[in-house]
Amino acid sequence: MITDSEYIKRSLALHLFFARIMKEHSLFLETGFSRRDFNLINQADYHRRSFDALLADTIALADGVVCEEVLKSGEVTTPFTLKAETVTSYYTGIPIATELTGKEASMTGDGGKSDRALIRQIRDLNNQASELIRSIIQFKSGILSNVRFCSLFTTNYPLMIGHLLEEAKFYLSAVQKLEEKEDIYTRKGELDQEYFWNDILAEHAKFIRGMLDPTEIELMIKANDFANEFDELTDQLKQAADKMSSLRKITSDSLIAANQMRDFNISGTQGILDCKIKSIIMPLLSDHVLREANHYLRLLNRFQKN
Ligand SMILES: [Fe+2]
Ligand SMILES: [Fe+2]
Repeated sequence: MITDSEYIKRSLALHLFFARIMKEHSLFLETGFSRRDFNLINQADYHRRSFDALLADTIALADGVVCEEVLKSGEVTTPFTLKAETVTSYYTGIPIATELTGKEASMTGDGGKSDRALIRQIRDLNNQASELIRSIIQFKSGILSNVRFCSLFTTNYPLMIGHLLEEAKFYLSAVQKLEEKEDIYTRKGELDQEYFWNDILAEHAKFIRGMLDPTEIELMIKANDFANEFDELTDQLKQAADKMSSLRKITSDSLIAANQMRDFNISGTQGILDCKIKSIIMPLLSDHVLREANHYLRLLNRFQKN
């Protein structure tokens, strides 16, 4: 069981990270459809704007309350986010709510409030989030099955659509656990998260590998190495089962690999924004995977302290 104060702080941290992630998924989907699928473009746009609203509500509640550690982790925004949004908006013609990014950058943390009114507001926020996440899960599932049956074309890889779906399911399950006041920082909970994020980072490396220009050989090799490394860590976790000493070793290896992946994501985002890397990677997608790596690093550092 978690305390009321943890319930508040963890809920706010979760939405600050994932509401932004979901609005960006909606944008990635929106830009991948053909003109004939205007209905899907509109649905993606609806989800994008709905998660903007969820993020705005979260920011209003989180300012002065959320953990400072979360704000400093680089999972909410990075020094590249605003520029990545501006350039992506220019490329796609989709207006991006950059004012939210500005507000997030000036947020403060660690207020430690836990009165009844705030608890009620957080419960409402979690309910609002659950409803929206269920809706985007349904949307992504529909796209994935249509792509698999070849009745829909999109420039997003099938693996990418499945990946976006898995992240939404993970988000929903995290909200449900918070509503049940379940502590996710038990050894079992930490292992589930480590397994999930190692798999996610392996897939990021595979997307980067596949979306680089075929002439970017050196970066493709690096991305391929990361894909293999995170696949290997996921396999090791599967095999280690309950062997505590092996699991600790895998966690510290994951921390090293995630740190290297974060550095790779930083130089990739910088290179894309500076027009030095040839690819079909949207600047905001590059910043997006960097934030996901930062989020995982915060978790891994926490696991190591337990
Ligand atoms: Fe994502
Ligand atoms: Fe991801």
